[in-house]
Amino acid sequence: MIYFDNACTSFPKPPEVVESMRDYYLRIGSSPGRSGHSLSLKAARLIFEARENLSHLFNVPRSERLIFTSNATDALNLAILGLLTEGDHVITPSMEHNSVMRPLKYLLKKGIIDLTIVPSSEEGYIDPDALRKSIRKNTRLIAVNHASNVVGTIAPLEEIGKISGNIPFLVDAAQSAGAVSIDIEQMGIDLLAFTGHKSLYGPQGTGGLFVREGIDLKPLRLGGTGSKSESWDHPDFLPDKYESGTPNTAGIAGLGQGVKFILNKGVDEIRQHEMRLTQSLLECLEDIEEITVYGPRNPSEQTPTVSINVRGREASEVGYRLDREFEIMTRVGLHCNPGTHKTIGTFPHGTVRLSMGYFNTYEEVGQVLEALREIATIP
Ligand SMILES: Cc1ncc(COP(=O)(O)O)c(C=O)c1O
Repeated sequence: MIYFDNACTSFPKPPEVVESMRDYYLRIGSSPGRSGHSLSLKAARLIFEARENLSHLFNVPRSERLIFTSNATDALNLAILGLLTEGDHVITPSMEHNSVMRPLKYLLKKGIIDLTIVPSSEEGYIDPDALRKSIRKNTRLIAVNHASNVVGTIAPLEEIGKISGNIPFLVDAAQSAGAVSIDIEQMGIDLLAFTGHKSLYGPQGTGGLFVREGIDLKPLRLGGTGSKSESWDHPDFLPDKYESGTPNTAGIAGLGQGVKFILNKGVDEIRQHEMRLTQSLLECLEDIEEITVYGPRNPSEQTPTVSINVRGREASEVGYRLDREFEIMTRVGLHCNPGTHKTIGTFPHGTVRLSMGYFNTYEEVGQVLEALREIATIP
């Protein structure tokens, strides 16, 4: 079996991720920040360590500003619905995921916000100057996907961070966190949404949001936090303000270990390996005449995610044959991102997405290419 669907969810996970979750259920099992007994304190320690590891990875100076959520979607909803109010204007490129576009379109349809969608190029490149020219007096948010989940294109965050100035800058790092280096200070990021189960190597059901000091989001959930229990007013301090309800302790423990794995290896080493795999895949794809490759076709400007189509074949047929005949897992279709497929010219049929990760090998790239060659040339 060859797993080329890491942009959807990474697999396999480092063994220590799985081990930490098993260990939590076997030896700790209780709720953090609630009962105060020794097992509860051990659970709280796991959450604390995961928060510290993530803060280290993104250069967040005060870890309490890093909120745990259930996934990137949850974090993006908190950022968008928690920030925007009547009369606000938002700028976003044309390649955003539905987890950004749907909350924005919801607010637009309700007449709450005004939205400018700035077209990206066919390869997925953003024009920072076009973003800058769209700024109005009432612009309250610039929301940008760091790395495309369809073609891998990496956005120039540092440049956009400078342009955004005092306007809150929200980055969707679902595809990039752990795979591309992120420094919230250097990049001027005010809100950073990430998911645990992709290139951070954590389990599903984990994610988070960094919220810069001075940005006040309306919490979307109120309730028990284990703190200030004497009061019927929801706590106004972080992280409790945005973390009501019992957390996914086992999941967060696993995520903490995933991030530790990345910190030990170094994002650069992971990036180098993934760039080499991308290079090797792209070079050989070029030789197969029947295959069209979308996106930058440049490993240093993309994550290890490559979208293709095979002449005369539906993406769904190619994905089906890769799975059934060659045991190669990919994802076909629109990838929860119709905006990108419209931008790159593949709407409504979509593409076959080949997305690699740190655990993929050159041998696997070779086997995938052989399978694609066979599908492309033998009826
Ligand atoms: C760019 C992007 N944003 C947001 C998401 C949503 O992530 P999650 O499903 O973990 O909420 C994804 C997941 O595919 C993504 O690729």
